[in-house]
Amino acid sequence: MKVIVVKDYEEVSAKAYEIMAELISNKPDCTLGLATGGTPVGLYKKLIEANKAGKLDFSKVQTVNLDEYVGIDYEHPESYHKFMNRNLFDHINIDKANTHVPDGGASDPQVACDEYNKLLASKTIDMQLLGIGGNGHIAFNEPGTPVDSVTHIVHLDERTIKDNARFFNNDMDLVPKSAMTMGIKNIMAAKKVLLLASGANKADAVFNTVEAKPTTKVPASVLQNHPDVTIICDEAAASKLTNK
Ligand code: F6R
Repeated sequence: MKVIVVKDYEEVSAKAYEIMAELISNKPDCTLGLATGGTPVGLYKKLIEANKAGKLDFSKVQTVNLDEYVGIDYEHPESYHKFMNRNLFDHINIDKANTHVPDGGASDPQVACDEYNKLLASKTIDMQLLGIGGNGHIAFNEPGTPVDSVTHIVHLDERTIKDNARFFNNDMDLVPKSAMTMGIKNIMAAKKVLLLASGANKADAVFNTVEAKPTTKVPASVLQNHPDVTIICDEAAASKLTNK
């Protein structure tokens, strides 16, 4: 694992942009694995700026997203489909037919998971972008998720529901209680992994991911077994690392 510590959120976004933009420039038809949540928004803003300035072309880029809530309407502003459109896809020259988010609104979620697995099996993710949960989750793979898991339905942890209430008027009752998520095995199949972490509430998760023994209790720690992982964190998220 390569760990890059920078000053603050702005620098996390700038460094992540540098790395992702290099890939897109070198491989215009790359497949990106994308994440939602607060952390990647600064990076997405930079990708939009670069596209508008004519520096980055997304016309041949394909994307697969990590996860989607189950049980809220597709049109709900906090559905991850809407999030991706609002924060990235609506503002760049990507072909929406080349963008993929699990279908959390499917009448049969298990069939939708199986279809998403088939889609993932047909692609190689060149770079998988990840945030990290305060409990060490990656995508919605909560503590205890087996390493051989593929896209599946998950019941969200109490902590995840609490953390995500900020997107739902701070009302935990409004946060969906389950989601559809790529599994650990799908994430580990990516050629490169780029994990971003910002803020003191991620410090324990970052420490457990980087310096503790890998355990399924901290899903991100399993990334220690991936050959090409870069973690970019700000000083607050890195504050518990002993080796900086
Ligand atoms: C989002 C996702 C989650 C988030 C994580 C951190 O697609 O898969 O694992 O990356 O919950 O969320 P933020 O960035 O909001 O702190």
